[in-house]
Amino acid sequence: MSVSDKREQWGSRVGFILAAAGSAVGLGNIWRFPYLVGMNGGAAFVVVYVILAVTVGLTVMLAEFCIGRASQKGSVGAFKALAQNKFWRVFGWLGLLIGGFVILSYYGVIAGWTVKYMAGSLTGLMGRAASGGGADYLGAFLADSKSVVAYQVTAMALTVAIVAGGVGKGIEKSCKYLMPGLFIVLLILIARSLTLPGAEAGLAFYLKPDFSKLSGKVVIDALGQGFFSLSLGMGIMITYGSYISKGEKLPKCAAFVFVLDTMAAFLAGLAIFPALFAMGMEPSQGVGLTFVTLPGVFAQMPAGAFFSFLFFLLLFLAAMTSMMSLLEVAVTFFIDEFKMGRVKAALAAGTAITILGIPSACSLSGRLNVFGMSFFDFMDYISNNIMMPINAIGICIFAGWAWTESLQKEITNSGLIQFRMQPLWVMAVKVLAPMAIAVILASGA
Ligand code: TRP
Repeated sequence: MSVSDKREQWGSRVGFILAAAGSAVGLGNIWRFPYLVGMNGGAAFVVVYVILAVTVGLTVMLAEFCIGRASQKGSVGAFKALAQNKFWRVFGWLGLLIGGFVILSYYGVIAGWTVKYMAGSLTGLMGRAASGGGADYLGAFLADSKSVVAYQVTAMALTVAIVAGGVGKGIEKSCKYLMPGLFIVLLILIARSLTLPGAEAGLAFYLKPDFSKLSGKVVIDALGQGFFSLSLGMGIMITYGSYISKGEKLPKCAAFVFVLDTMAAFLAGLAIFPALFAMGMEPSQGVGLTFVTLPGVFAQMPAGAFFSFLFFLLLFLAAMTSMMSLLEVAVTFFIDEFKMGRVKAALAAGTAITILGIPSACSLSGRLNVFGMSFFDFMDYISNNIMMPINAIGICIFAGWAWTESLQKEITNSGLIQFRMQPLWVMAVKVLAPMAIAVILASGA
């Protein structure tokens, strides 16, 4: 059976870039990045993040694109197809486990919050936020675990429905319209946030680095966020890369995805911190940051409820495009390995992942702690700060050492194009990135 010569491809370069960016741009940029900046002392974290994203993140992304396009397979299949030694397959499996299951389990919970906030925007959130009650509003919601789970199940059910309907056109087309919309709403928010009295302090916090704030934790959080935000270390970009046409220039694609992703995160911070300081709130409050600050900003805008609704709608949609990519890893796997039908696979994986997410959802009320953190933070921590870095090291070592020649062939489209940074990049894949990740991992442990 020669499935490979019939393999689906992206409709166009723009389509692919937007789909990959749709996977990359999600809650990670708008919810996770700002709260990590807030918890890790501000601009110093931003600087470390950008350095690691460019050096380690981009390097790994390109390697994943190469592995995907060369193998024409998803995460598990790619290592089976390309690696002689069975050992490397571990990394395909690890990807499945991390992304398909662990990340999506708690990601679905936050996606549920966006649904709650869409509804809330039209029913009372604005009134509460205008009088400084945004934090209490969130607190009351989180204390009611049943409703947190109900919203999580809603978000997961929608994701399952879309993925069950097939990827191809659906993902590609929706991302084409959603991404620009999200950027426009962010720009409007930034304009409002920057013109609030007292915004300067927030700008300074966000943009003026105070390097005395640096610590092992700051660096490891920045690295984990880089993987999370760029959807790396778990086979997504391998899978998406497998649909890129052979004529496409991979470095160019990676650069586009990277810039879009980093811009989205940067703009989110620019919308949040000036407003946060203008309203006299704490930057280090953690996971609730975006959900507390932004309603406060909206409440001070004309037609605030409308903008609030629009923003959470777009955030929800950005989350959905990422969730589809996360669920697709598990679904592709069930289909390929167990010969399951797509609908059945989506239902089975979706149900398992939703159940796995329930402890995370309930732990936000403060009732379920492991190792001194909420179960939610625990899942987030082990996937981003431990499992993804380990997987990324594996991908680099495989691509750089066991698969070097093919790697170089793939990046140059078999010698048809030139990649000026090639020697530097190969060094980065072989040595720089894995060493940097290992050092950071070791220092954080
Ligand atoms: N990158 C997405 C975000 O920032 C989340 C995500 C989607 C992801 N697919 C992934 C994270 C794969 C890690 C791996 O919201």
